[in-house]
Amino acid sequence: MSYHSIAAAPDFLVALNPASPRPLYQQLYDGLRNGILTGRLSPGTRLPSSRMLAAGLQIGRNTVMLAFEQLHAEGYVQGRRGAGTYVTHALPENVLHIRPQRTNTRERSALMRPLSARGKTLVKTAAKWGFPSSAPPTAFRFGAPALDAFPSAIWARLTARRWRKLNFPMVESYTAGYPPLQQAIATYMTAVRGVRCHSEQVLIVNGSQQALDLAARVLLDPGDVVWVEDPGYLGVRSALAAAEAHLVPVPVDSEGLSVETGIEQAYQARMVYVSPSHQFPLGPTMSASRRLSLLSWAAQVNAWVLEDDYDSEFRYAGRPIACLQGLDTEERVLYLGTFSKTLFPALRLGYFIVPESLIDAFLAARAVSDRHSPVLEQAVLADFIVEGHYARHVRRMRTLYAERQGCLLEAVHQELNGLLELTPADAGMHLVGWLPRDVSDQDAASEAITQGVETIPLSSYTMTPLSRGALLLGYAGFEISAIRTGVKRLAVALRQVQRQSTNAVRSQRR
Ligand SMILES: Cc1ncc(COP(=O)(O)O)c(C=O)c1O
Repeated sequence: MSYHSIAAAPDFLVALNPASPRPLYQQLYDGLRNGILTGRLSPGTRLPSSRMLAAGLQIGRNTVMLAFEQLHAEGYVQGRRGAGTYVTHALPENVLHIRPQRTNTRERSALMRPLSARGKTLVKTAAKWGFPSSAPPTAFRFGAPALDAFPSAIWARLTARRWRKLNFPMVESYTAGYPPLQQAIATYMTAVRGVRCHSEQVLIVNGSQQALDLAARVLLDPGDVVWVEDPGYLGVRSALAAAEAHLVPVPVDSEGLSVETGIEQAYQARMVYVSPSHQFPLGPTMSASRRLSLLSWAAQVNAWVLEDDYDSEFRYAGRPIACLQGLDTEERVLYLGTFSKTLFPALRLGYFIVPESLIDAFLAARAVSDRHSPVLEQAVLADFIVEGHYARHVRRMRTLYAERQGCLLEAVHQELNGLLELTPADAGMHLVGWLPRDVSDQDAASEAITQGVETIPLSSYTMTPLSRGALLLGYAGFEISAIRTGVKRLAVALRQVQRQSTNAVRSQRR
């Protein structure tokens, strides 16, 4: 049997904390055992002598001996006193059984700590709908705003001003939100979006995802039926699935969600999710007659309407479309908006404008989960809005995004004629590019990734199969040169998938 020794300094192996209530010998035992289980101390490794460890860690030798004895008794190490201590060659079955796999620490902790049924549902839901990407966005990641044009100097100045005068609440909790921000949003949304509310109805949330999660948890019981747009936003589906709601896909056409079909399929639904200003991802605006029939149905069956107004500020043609919430006379509509598109997504601030009758229930839910959103950012944002920077920034971005959309259309027209059908859109930050009928959008998106282009296949957003595939191309966040390069790379990818699909059809015919 061969052995090798380690010359590692003892403090590399374990870090002891004299202030911890756990005795030092147990801390040393934990550290060495962990080293063995994670493979840092491989079988056959000779441990430093007890004298050396004691000197290196500045602890008594008896403490080291106690740790060694425990490891010995449990079979992690072997050796005789005076002849050296070695990591056991054949580790016992029960030790190997719990040996952590370095590559899958999440699975390991799941094994070691069984979850509740609710916890399991959450894990399953997130695995199905995915996590947002933590990588920096590249063309054509959907939803990325123009970070290159963000007025960071103004934001920094406003933040510094609040700090310099210590002019923000550092202790107080504002479950509903920092009142000046609630007021600023109420005033702005009333003027710009036609929302009807007073400021106490404006709850500040950590992005609209938190509003969706709160709505699902506070208003739905497992099995409750909810209409969702198909194709539609995955964020809402994940929040609803985590609350074990029963999702009914309702098709979308040029007038938005088909209320008639929803009624035919599930008249007695508890809730509906809609993005009426600019349906995600296809883009139609919900017609006035559909809006009215949606509200009238909701009143008949006592259903809630979740209105997601995620990118309504970016409308390039005609007048902005007023929101559905402003038409509601029955307190059925819960309106959610986000600063992820107009400012930047990692800010994690959004607003949830709820009927008065629901304010207390949402505050209660917030109080037990995360208390409230960070106050400094809310204070800076309030200044940013009140001093007019927000409206100015949105106006500038509207011009910039219209330009970037024009550039994308032109580049696609030049490079991708016949491979991708793209039409201009009056609003938003992305376009939907339709593929030839024989090309799968999943294959096209995977091939695009190999060429360094990020797109999302439309079929990822659908619950019912599509007759024709498409790709979502976000353009707002990318400079003209990045858009042109991205389109050239996408052309390489789409030619490649087109060739593959033609060959596949030929070989089927033979
Ligand atoms: C339809 C829709 N709603 C809302 C959001 C914003 O979500 P959040 O505010 O959680 O960042 C997005 C962003 O991708 C979206 O596409």
